[in-house]
Amino acid sequence: MRVLLTGGSGFIGSHIALLLLEKGYDVLIIDSFVNSSPNAIKAIKNYLDDKNLNYNLKTINCDIRDKQLLGKIFIDSAKEFNPIQTVIHLAGLKSVSESFINPLLYWDVNVCGTENLLATMNENECYSIVFSSSATIYGLTDSIPITEDHKISPINPYGKTKVAIENMFYDLYRSNISSWKICSLRYFNPAGAHPSGFIGEDPVGIPNNLFPYITQVASGRRKFVNVFGDDWETNDGSGVRDYIHIMDLSEGHIRALDFLCSNKSCLEFVNLGSGKGYSVFQIISQFEQSTGSQIPFSIQSRRDGDLAKSYADISKAKNLLGWAPKRSLEQICLDGWKWQRKNPNGYT
Ligand code: WQD
Repeated sequence: MRVLLTGGSGFIGSHIALLLLEKGYDVLIIDSFVNSSPNAIKAIKNYLDDKNLNYNLKTINCDIRDKQLLGKIFIDSAKEFNPIQTVIHLAGLKSVSESFINPLLYWDVNVCGTENLLATMNENECYSIVFSSSATIYGLTDSIPITEDHKISPINPYGKTKVAIENMFYDLYRSNISSWKICSLRYFNPAGAHPSGFIGEDPVGIPNNLFPYITQVASGRRKFVNVFGDDWETNDGSGVRDYIHIMDLSEGHIRALDFLCSNKSCLEFVNLGSGKGYSVFQIISQFEQSTGSQIPFSIQSRRDGDLAKSYADISKAKNLLGWAPKRSLEQICLDGWKWQRKNPNGYT
């Protein structure tokens, strides 16, 4: 079965691509490489070649705002008698802070780009999609752990684009309820790396997220971690989040794909997290304990768009998809550090 994986050279996309290829799926990656490196694709191939695995992987440089090229990709696939049967849609911009600075870019890429993709899927009678949504849509939490029916009130433009896309899914599903199969996965905080160290997280420029910042301090690329606030309403004053191993998250996508394949039509929204919350200080100390590194830090003021506490209720993922996280926070630290140690400058 051919899977179109948009954003397949990014941190999450590359890990999902590797898992799909190992499981024998035919994977067609499209990526604009605006926020990722083509070397991630090479690293995937190196890993699979290293294991003497056969695989079907094609990569096309494509921005999802280019509707003409999207259409050509679907048509060419059909002409090769290898039609795209399902889509895993990850392509999009994901920096909370950047979305405040350039909101229209986020609405253009994330929302208009996704609209292009869905329209092209519709035109080519491809009605099956797994989507990369985000816990950011919940905004300020009034009940913890967060269930899928928690109030949706994003507090940043990035989160608002994800809500707009989920609303698109509601309308699209209602317009053709017998055909569409949609599973929107609401990620909490993906972290870590593939245990082989071949692929991992390599943000462009200064990392926005905590984990890659910590691994870059550990590798000497950065001097210390800025802790954005130690006066939050949490046990130790630093922000609490739900960190999920990237391999657990990737396996969740395979489960979602299987779920869509076994259903005639559906529209589901599912949290993917570890179900546990850890503070920034707990993460730093776990990382130091697991890896033996020293992670100096400096307390800074709170960051725009941040909140005190967020972690998932993952019972729906367990009941609907038969999925549960298997890896610990220690494994996240060890695997993330192995990747960074082997690739001190990422994919460059
Ligand atoms: C985690 C904690 C920060 C960096 C965002 C998006 C979310 C998802 C993951 C896409 C917070 C603190 C961080 C640093 C710090 N992305 N922190 N120093 O903000 O929970 O989630 O990225 O889907 O949608 O909203 O992740 O890693 O940026 O922050 O103290 O240098 O670490 O305040 O408490 P976040 P994060």
